[in-house]
Amino acid sequence: MKYLLQLIVLVAPFVTAQQSAWGQCGGYNWTGSTSCVSGYSCVKLNDYYSQCQPGSSPTSTTSSSGGGVTPTTSPSGGLNAKFVAKGKKYFGTCSDATLLSNAQNAAIIKAEFGQLTPENSMKWDSIEPSRGSFSYSGADTLVNFAQSNGKLVRGHTLVWHSQLPSWVSSISSASTLTSVIQNHISNVAGRDVVNEIFNEDGSLRSSVFSNLLGESFVKIAFDAARAADPSAKLYINDYNLDSANSKVNGLVTLVKKLKAQGVPIDGIGSQAHLSAGQTGGVAAALAALAGAGVSEVAITELDIAGASATDYANVVNVCKNMAACIGITVWGVSDKDSWRSSSTPLLFDSNYQKKAAYTAVSNALN
Ligand code: G3I
Repeated sequence: MKYLLQLIVLVAPFVTAQQSAWGQCGGYNWTGSTSCVSGYSCVKLNDYYSQCQPGSSPTSTTSSSGGGVTPTTSPSGGLNAKFVAKGKKYFGTCSDATLLSNAQNAAIIKAEFGQLTPENSMKWDSIEPSRGSFSYSGADTLVNFAQSNGKLVRGHTLVWHSQLPSWVSSISSASTLTSVIQNHISNVAGRDVVNEIFNEDGSLRSSVFSNLLGESFVKIAFDAARAADPSAKLYINDYNLDSANSKVNGLVTLVKKLKAQGVPIDGIGSQAHLSAGQTGGVAAALAALAGAGVSEVAITELDIAGASATDYANVVNVCKNMAACIGITVWGVSDKDSWRSSSTPLLFDSNYQKKAAYTAVSNALN
């Protein structure tokens, strides 16, 4: 199964008199269509913005302020709805099969988040554990959940030095590695095409990819991803892009160079695994990334040690206020299930209760 095709089904606007999934369908001064494509109904989020959300048309009354429709049940006041109302594509999180079968966790995802990144199930060791043998069961679980609940999916990740099966890391021929990359990508397609390819000084990280192919593996990967899905948004993703540092400079330089050569890089993802009190440089760094000639940037794996309300509000405001920033993905729901659980970095505590950081994010989006 090629996952990006599913992403496009969820994201691409339909050319029709009816408004597309998640599109605006009402609000103050709105002059566009007020009806939604099949399977979606127009939900009034506030006086200024109504949105096509999944579900059949509720029994409703038409609003006088621009054709918005008031549903019989309260619209979700979740973080995603608020972020979308600010003109963004999504406010999401990561998950996978085990956590999606946890009822408390799944309920929060349904209510609060509009996008899912597979935390592990689309990584190379999960999806192609041996050469040419593809295993999609974990990834299918996540995509099916997303589709049934109207969530976008960000594929993660195609080319990464970590969670790489040994049959790939032990390849010693450049031509074999090239065709292995191309075959993997043509089978999976994706979103985060290359992940964590830089050292902190901005040079290329040593990996089987850079060691055998130099920086040409980046072009090989993006070309293969574009061929696999011509309308996909293709991202380069990394961590420690949280201040104007050497790594940001190295990434911007490479992206500019590759784009000048026609390599199809659409966006840059900043993971944003942050330390407490270290959010002051995020705005400048994200602006520098957006200046690399890409059409969009996103915060792709946000978590902040200690999860102070101030830190979370800072980061959310940076994306909210930057036109090029299309969305934020928080790297998990509950502190209990975080990869850095002991630093309690998420919006929900170990009992799945909202933390002060949740309230701060929600308030920042009012
Ligand atoms: O599934 C196996 C299980 O069968 C086995 O019993 C268990 C024993 O350790 O391991 C399980 O796999 C673990 C996997 O998560 C699923 O839980 C791996 O050991 C563990 O290494 C893996 O950690 C993931 C980590 O990436 C791997 O590097 C984290 O969940 C995931 O949150 C983290 O995410 C990364 C992003 O993909 C890229 N950016 C950094 C971010 C944080 O490291």
